[in-house]
Amino acid sequence: MPLIAITRAVSPNINQCELSFHDRHQIDVPTAIAQHEAYNKCLESLGAKVIALPAEPDLPDSVFVEDAAIVFDEVAVIPIMAAASRRDEPRTLVPALSRFRALEWLREPATLDGGDVVVADHRVFVGLTRRTNREAVNQLGEILRPHGYIIKGVPVRDILHLKSACCYLGNNALLINRKFTDASVFQPLDLIDVTEPEPAAANVLSVNGTVIAAASFPETCSLLEQRGFRVRRVEVAELQKAEAGVTCCSLVFSDSLSS
Ligand code: GLY
Repeated sequence: MPLIAITRAVSPNINQCELSFHDRHQIDVPTAIAQHEAYNKCLESLGAKVIALPAEPDLPDSVFVEDAAIVFDEVAVIPIMAAASRRDEPRTLVPALSRFRALEWLREPATLDGGDVVVADHRVFVGLTRRTNREAVNQLGEILRPHGYIIKGVPVRDILHLKSACCYLGNNALLINRKFTDASVFQPLDLIDVTEPEPAAANVLSVNGTVIAAASFPETCSLLEQRGFRVRRVEVAELQKAEAGVTCCSLVFSDSLSS
């Protein structure tokens, strides 16, 4: 089935982004924009139809669309984001998403960032973080269980989102840094550990059988290739300064309309 990738252009005010565990370093906006455009091209080259939304200048983190919605085959979930500066981001995705999916909305007191949701086929792991609470796990469960999903809350430490700790590669394999989460929760998935010098390398995006990974993590890229994965390296160094990774910049899902 064809894939859709929703992305949003880099805000000119990305230097006002939220930072939780990273120190602030000046982001070169033209370079960030160029890296984001190359990322869009990478998605296209892997067969995704990219819907590139315009920048939202007043929302510094809005390039990170992954946090502002979670898309499943059956439904898209619109979260409440805990960071005050990001509260308006979900509504900016509603027109694009509602073309493809029925929408379900989380209710207060739930807070959730999509970066905390790792989906491995019908298992949904939800990181319990500064951004995502237990109430969100409960509400997500109510929405998803009728569709056959199993939902689990997962501890996360010393990092912003669960997807900074682990990402699903497909074929039952999970790339993980065990320092940031509890690996036992993910059994019986086949766990592949990031290399020691690259603690943030677990954030990768699987698209049509290819793993998109940050070029700044060469050892983990090589490790994945040794394990038989096709890897595409993308330069995202400026976006990484905003405490982001390759998954954050897109919402990738199957185009159920063309089936
Ligand atoms: N800058 C990404 C976030 O904190 O949400």
